[in-house]
Amino acid sequence: MVDNTDCLLEVQGLKKYFKVGKKKMLRAVDDVSFYIRKGETLGVVGESGCGKTTCGRTCLGIYDKTGGQVTYRGEDVHGMDKERRRRFTEQAQIIFQDPYASLDPKMKIQEIVAEGIRAHKMAEDEADIKKRVEGLLSTVGLDPAYGSRYVHEFSGGQRQRIGIARALAVEPEFIVCDEPISALDVSIQAQIVNLLKRLQKEKELTYMFIAHDLSMVKHISDRVMVMYLGKVMEITTADQLYDHPAHPYTQALLSAIPIPDPRVEAGKVRIRMEGEIPSPVDPPEGCRFQNRCPYAEKKCREETPVLEKIGEGHFAACHRCG
Ligand SMILES: Nc1ncnc2c1ncn2[C@@H]1O[C@H](COP(=O)(O)OP(=O)(O)OP(=O)(O)O)[C@@H](O)[C@H]1O
Ligand SMILES: [Mg+2]
Repeated sequence: MVDNTDCLLEVQGLKKYFKVGKKKMLRAVDDVSFYIRKGETLGVVGESGCGKTTCGRTCLGIYDKTGGQVTYRGEDVHGMDKERRRRFTEQAQIIFQDPYASLDPKMKIQEIVAEGIRAHKMAEDEADIKKRVEGLLSTVGLDPAYGSRYVHEFSGGQRQRIGIARALAVEPEFIVCDEPISALDVSIQAQIVNLLKRLQKEKELTYMFIAHDLSMVKHISDRVMVMYLGKVMEITTADQLYDHPAHPYTQALLSAIPIPDPRVEAGKVRIRMEGEIPSPVDPPEGCRFQNRCPYAEKKCREETPVLEKIGEGHFAACHRCG
């Protein structure tokens, strides 16, 4: 699938299963392949529980894998020795889904942001740490004097800025942004997206940007990967995905976003999904989306479609798309 050398992260047939009960397996990520080029943003979307967080965390080696491979700059993420692993945690960071739960309420902001600087011995002395933390706080648009305060004194948007400052502290090149805006008001969401975009330009960052609705993802992503029940349904450029979505699941997700322009709104294909997402412990036979897809036919219930090229840089896993 990958024909370029500017690839930072490459994922091949990745599987992450969780054991549930005595015998059953929950297939959170089930045979997923994609790549992220240096400097780009890959958006990852899909409904709650489809495996986005698990995929991001497994790519960073936070979780062991069940199968497949993740390589970062050509190196196996799950096969790194201790020293290489330490350097990798400098290069690759994560901004967590929930800014309320991911920041320690007992620590001052300056200590939260300084943690990585200390762990990776990136500063010369205490004065240097203080200077770096102040610089990071102002980079993310917070008053450097806020360092002596505690998390509960900040709003959701400010907390997410603290989370971003913490991730930036070790000067990473790749950041998994796990729904960094979902817990925020719409007006604040745009501010955080703009901040991430500015930082990406200034620091040449590469992002994996996880979200469960498609509207904000369009503004930040170069390409978008759509996941459903642990599988990739479609990957293509952000523009192509919004203008010519191929997979019925992508079309259904897009149908859920209101379009401000009434002409576009009138011409849009609307797809309604029936029913609930099935359990990843016991997913449907054939295509995972078949029981909710308005176009499903016999083949969809029997054969699992593979992710196939359907156009330039456009891949979909659907029997109707080939
Ligand atoms: N540590 C775990 N142990 C067992 N099951 C897990 C674990 N983490 C996630 N899962 C399950 O794996 C599936 C995928 O979860 P994941 O958190 O990756 O989804 P998600 O796409 O990030 O959802 P959301 O949009 O709600 O954050 C879910 O069914 C979830 O219950
Ligand atoms: Mg998640």
